[in-house]
Amino acid sequence: MFMRHLGVLLAGLLPAASHALSPEAEEGRALYPACHVCHNPEMDPPLGPPMWGVQRLYRMNTVDDDDFVNTMVEFVKAPLPENAKHQEAVAQMGLMPPMPLPDELLEKIAGYILEERFPPPCAHWRIAVKRAEQRGDLAHAEKDQMMLERFCQ
Ligand code: HEC
Repeated sequence: MFMRHLGVLLAGLLPAASHALSPEAEEGRALYPACHVCHNPEMDPPLGPPMWGVQRLYRMNTVDDDDFVNTMVEFVKAPLPENAKHQEAVAQMGLMPPMPLPDELLEKIAGYILEERFPPPCAHWRIAVKRAEQRGDLAHAEKDQMMLERFCQ
């Protein structure tokens, strides 16, 4: 498992064209439109947080690939506020509705989310900066501006 995680990290250093998904993740990708309806980063206003940030949070807060997949499947089946890693999204958009899909399919989707290299959600951050400035939430505007400068140059 550690080796697979390392492989994903190393793959992250290669150009996008060389990124091949595992067969399970390919199957997960075919099912991902069920999630993209809300997790589409181009939507304004968004119905769900961009998967780029969700993936980042799960990578930071799980110990390996299995933990990433299992933790995500458990959440998606029955979202609970105390299990949410994306507290900012919960506060802004409310808790995600449960996805009543069989575990086997959810595992493939989570495997896809683990392996995919989502583009940073630059359009989402640009909109978020404007919105935050309009409502005078300068701390939030500054945070998203920082993400833009760091990942969208
Ligand atoms: C009806 C809209 C909607 C759909 C469909 C949807 N999501 Fe979400 N999702 C949300 C919202 C809103 C949040 C942010 C609040 C939260 O974390 O619960 C979220 C958050 C998440 C999170 C972060 C949870 C956390 O720890 O805070 C994961 C993981 C996730 N979604 C996975 C999925 C997957 C996988 C699918 C498809 C099988 C999916 N979502 C479909 C709306 C949706």
